[in-house]
This record gives sequence, structure tokens and C-alpha cells, in this order.
Amino acid sequence: MYDLVRGPLVWVAFTVFIVGTVYQVVRFYSLSRKNPQFRLIKPTGGPPKKEDPPAEPVLTFGQRLRLSIAGTNPVMTTVTTVFHVLLVLTPFFVLGHNVLWDLAWGISPPSFSEAFTDVLTIIVIAGGVYFLCRRLFMARVRAISSTYDFVILAIATAPFITGFLAYRNIFDYDTVILLHMLAGEIMLVAIPFTKLVHMPFFFINRFLLVHENTFGAGGSRIWR
Ligand code: HEM
Ligand code: HEM
Repeated sequence: MYDLVRGPLVWVAFTVFIVGTVYQVVRFYSLSRKNPQFRLIKPTGGPPKKEDPPAEPVLTFGQRLRLSIAGTNPVMTTVTTVFHVLLVLTPFFVLGHNVLWDLAWGISPPSFSEAFTDVLTIIVIAGGVYFLCRRLFMARVRAISSTYDFVILAIATAPFITGFLAYRNIFDYDTVILLHMLAGEIMLVAIPFTKLVHMPFFFINRFLLVHENTFGAGGSRIWR
């Protein structure tokens, strides 16, 4: 069982994650089309022309910030930013992971110290607890929460909880590390096929689709 979970299942999980994500991106392209007609209109300066849309009030950066999610909900914005940065970054620098890379491929990427990784892991778990409490105790968030949201939260945090338990030798190590590897594999496989697909879709939505919240050049595609 251990050999299966540590060996072939890891590769199955990575393959499903990569192929599934590519599939979702290709699907996005097949379900959308280029449409220069709807490009965002950027102010060009000069006197207004008859065909220009009605002028909107120009807000200062400070005013825009106060109206944004960072201004209206600064705690959530901070927690989610720290949670996401650490969730994506930490696994690449776990000594236990990089030892496995070394054993399999002879490459040893840089790792954080185990004590530092442990702190980052606790911060990610704390972020998960914050999201859980919001969904349980804030009426307006609970109203739009279903079992699915709790399952997704569990899938996202389980690798961190079990990794933490393994590192601290809490409970039987062999069982916990097996659960950890399974939890990591479930998370990878879940990304392309659950709402965790927001990982690639965040970028698609913000950079490729035309709408008032697109970043960068303003996007150039619309849904078919
Ligand atoms: C896919 C297969 C995976 C394998 C084989 C694996 C293996 C391991 C091993 C051997 C350790 C060291 C435990 C110890 O120190 O005794 C570890 C720790 C850890 N793993 Fe994984 N892991 C996997 C996936 C993941 C994923 C997907 C994540 C998160 C996204 C993750 C997050 C962590 C963290 C944060 C720790 C350190 C916990 C701490 O030090 O407090 N792992 N993992
Ligand atoms: C790297 C690109 C990613 C971006 C840009 C991103 C962005 C977002 C955004 C905008 C939200 C909605 C609001 C919020 O809670 O902040 C969100 C929620 C969430 N994300 Fe991500 N995400 C990414 C990757 C991931 C990954 C890899 C996972 C886990 C596998 C994950 C797990 C979650 C969870 C669990 C929530 C919901 C928290 C709740 O219950 O309220 N995200 N993400």
C-alpha cells in the first residue's frame, strides 16, 4: 500500500493535474472567441466625441482602493492573500518533499528549514480555520455555503494538517504519512475538476476575458 501511494499514485496524481488543467484551458478556448468589438474603451484624452460613452467620474487611487474588496474587507483580503501565497509556495520548499525528488531523480531543490516550514504550515491551517469560521458563523456567508464548500476547504487544507501531524510525530507516523500522501494526491486530482479549477481560471478570467475587472490590456475574448 505504502509503495503504491508513494510511487505510481504520485505520478497518476501529477499527470491528472497537468493533463486536466491543460484540458480546462483548451476547453476555455473552444467555448470562447476573440472579439475585438468589445475591447475596453480606454480614455484617449482630447475633447469628447459624439460616439464616446457618457463620462464616468474619475476616482483617485485611494478612492478606488476604499471601494475595492481590499478596502471593504481588509481582513479577508489579507488572510486569503497570505493563505494562497503560502499554500502554493510551501510544498516546493518542504525538505521531506525535496528528499523524495532527490531519491527519484537525483535533484535536490532548495528547502526551507523544517522549523520554518512548520510555521508556514500552521499559518495555512489558521487561514483554513478562518475560512471555516466565516462559513459557519457569518450569516451572509453561511447562507451561500453548501457541503461542497466545506469538502473543498477540507481537500485544500488536509495536506497541511496531515503534513504537520507527520512532522510532529503526532499519532502513528506510518499511518499519518500515508494519509498525507493520499491527501496531497486528492488535492492535485481535484484541482482541474472541482471549483479549485479557479487556480487557472482566475488568470483566464482576469487577463483574457473582456469585462470591467480585467487586468492588463483589458482582455480580448468573450464567451461564445
Ligand atoms: C503528492 C504526494 C506527496 C508526498 C509523497 C508528500 C510527502 C511528504 C513528506 C515525506 C513529508 C515530510 C514529513 C516529515 O517531516 O516527517 C511531507 C511534509 C509536508 N507536506 Fe507533503 N507530500 C505530498 C503532497 C503534498 C501536497 C500536495 C502538499 C500541499 C499542497 C503538501 C504539504 C506538505 C507540508 C506543508 C509538509 C510539512 C509539514 C510541517 O513540516 O509542518 N504535501 N510531505
Ligand atoms: C494560484 C492561483 C490561485 C488564485 C489566484 C486563487 C484565487 C482565489 C480567489 C479569488 C478566491 C475567492 C475569494 C477568496 O477566498 O479569496 C479563492 C478562494 C479559495 N481558494 Fe484559491 N486561488 C488560487 C489557487 C488555489 C489553490 C491551488 C487552492 C487549493 C488547492 C485554493 C484554495 C482555495 C479555497 C479553499 C478557497 C475558498 C475559501 C473559502 O472557503 O472561502 N486556491 N481563491
